Amino acid sequence: MSLLTKAYWEGLKNKQRKLKEKIQKDHWRLHYHQMPATGWLNDPNGACQFKGTYHLYHQYVPENPEGGIPHWAHKTSKDMVHFTEEEIFLSPEHSYEKDGVYSGSAFVKDDEIHYFYTGNVKNSGGYDYIFNGREQNTVHAVSKDGFSLELQEVVIKHEDYPKEYTDHIRDPKIFAKNGLYYMVLGARRKDHYGELLLYRSKDLYTWEFHGILLEKKEDMGYMWECPDFFDLNGKSVVLFSPQGLNKKLHQFQNVYQTGFYIGETDWDKIEFQPEASFKELDYGFDFYAPQTFEDESGRRILWGWMGLGDTNAEYVNPTVNHGWQHALTLPRELTIEQGCLKQRPLPEYQMIRKEENRIEANISGEYRNVELTCEVSELLIYFDEVEDGFEIHLRQDTVIRYDKGILSITHGVSGAGRSFRTVKIDKLEQLHIFSDTSSLEIFINDGDYVMSSRVYPDKGKNQVRFRGHAQLRVNKWEIAKTVID
Ligand code: FRU
Repeated sequence: MSLLTKAYWEGLKNKQRKLKEKIQKDHWRLHYHQMPATGWLNDPNGACQFKGTYHLYHQYVPENPEGGIPHWAHKTSKDMVHFTEEEIFLSPEHSYEKDGVYSGSAFVKDDEIHYFYTGNVKNSGGYDYIFNGREQNTVHAVSKDGFSLELQEVVIKHEDYPKEYTDHIRDPKIFAKNGLYYMVLGARRKDHYGELLLYRSKDLYTWEFHGILLEKKEDMGYMWECPDFFDLNGKSVVLFSPQGLNKKLHQFQNVYQTGFYIGETDWDKIEFQPEASFKELDYGFDFYAPQTFEDESGRRILWGWMGLGDTNAEYVNPTVNHGWQHALTLPRELTIEQGCLKQRPLPEYQMIRKEENRIEANISGEYRNVELTCEVSELLIYFDEVEDGFEIHLRQDTVIRYDKGILSITHGVSGAGRSFRTVKIDKLEQLHIFSDTSSLEIFINDGDYVMSSRVYPDKGKNQVRFRGHAQLRVNKWEIAKTVID
């Protein structure tokens, strides 16, 4: 028996209809990024390719752009570019998930998709919700088509987690090795350090605690959310979203972070050893809780939430007034090259390029306008030479500046509170910028670094200007809309 009644669903449909009317009129509605059909979106979930079709799910509060109790929305695609909005996939229908179908992942095996997610329960009363008052159950669901469920059951009950942890244990991600299945979970220890737990299974249906995949570290925060673990180009990668890191000069500038360790795994013991320090995945204002999957051609693809919770109103998203909030980044392909993680936009997105402009320019001096505009478009800029202090001004009041090995991004009023972020890059060779109605993603030096941010420029404020000294080659494409009204 579902906890959600017919009246609940009818009420929801009505609220969604009203929100949709507002969204359709919003010029900040994104043209080629995944956003919620209505209301609120956060983490990508359950991403997979099954029998040729890409399935993407995400945390979704259909009736409220300011958040609430999450469901899983569902989108499908044949090409990773054009997506169809499907019916809501999971909703808080059972007592073990009554306060939210939280984040989780998909594991394709033979003719089935196995989903694992966190059933969130928040009891009412005088609880602190860290040590008590909350349950986070690990739930298994099986589907033969990605749309309907054959089975849905709790496989790890909240009370069965090891005793060193608070109530915060969540976001399962599965991998298979040597005929066994493993599940990584993010956790907050009772002594307020983050840690990653490992469970093991012979059949995906029963699970036992196996140990710790990544131990607490002094300067790595109090909670690690949304873990991921995979092999890539002969190395292993552990990726997660830690909370509670201290800000450093050019690192960890947002309220919460996302990053990774590259290392080696002893697969007999399932022991991971990092080889390098923790690195951030994205240096912009809006990036969190990403998830990867391997597609049928063997590519490791990552989607991130182009947003962040708990920004303490330092910055906001004015689309809340238009019935929706947040979006996902473009999907990115990950590789490890010369020991470094590269992130590149999927080449599939070239199919929506329209008119092309090409410019070769020797920029020298003040504000050079180059007959370029940039709104729903893609800019690929190669720097044959660039001097310190070089600036690109784009959209309403965004400035990308290169100075002495630091790339910075500054927004004025169009940033809705977003001010200044930096990344240390040493030299500037290339920028690949994806601009949508209300977003900017900047891939730096062929995917060595990325900065993703939401921006809210007034309509028509879309000129591109250069300032400083540089020798440039620019390709710019208008991009076709992929969303259907
Ligand atoms: C990350 C997160 C996850 C959780 C989900 C709930 O943004 O907090 O840890 O499962 O969001 O929406």
